[in-house]
Amino acid sequence: MFNLKTTPGAAKPELYRELACQLAGLLDGERDGLANAANTAALIYQGLPDLNWAGFYFLRGGELLLGPFQGKVACVRIGLGKGVCGTAASQRETLVVPNVAEFPGHIACDHASRSEVVVPLVKSGRLVGVLDLDSPNPGRFDRADAEGLQVLAELFLSRSELGALHD
Ligand code: SME
Repeated sequence: MFNLKTTPGAAKPELYRELACQLAGLLDGERDGLANAANTAALIYQGLPDLNWAGFYFLRGGELLLGPFQGKVACVRIGLGKGVCGTAASQRETLVVPNVAEFPGHIACDHASRSEVVVPLVKSGRLVGVLDLDSPNPGRFDRADAEGLQVLAELFLSRSELGALHD
């Protein structure tokens, strides 16, 4: 039984430190990329406030293919350069979008989403996918989220064999 514990009212950097510590524990002893992606998405969704979606897309056949996630059903395939996910992937840069309505080409999977952050997943110099979080609150994500999520994404990547999950 895994009990996620975070300090109520903790500032974002502290919250992300706590989540990183617990993610390391959760992934300890398991290297299966699919299982670890599923648990990473669940830990993020459970551990961070004000989210309506958290999950993975993996690069398959030259496009982003939906991976494990928490939240409402989502679009399955996203082309590189399309939407926030495809743009973050093609630029290999974390994108913080305070207002998705102002992002050209934003793909609305859940109409409740108001802000979004996408972290590209790069392993051994290769783009393998993205980690995507949505919030119903405008301006939910900032630099502290981007930095904290990059650490969680790195932990996931370093602890997992992705095998056939990506090209
Ligand atoms: N909004 C994303 C699509 C994925 S969903 O949010 C789960 C985008 O514009 O790429």
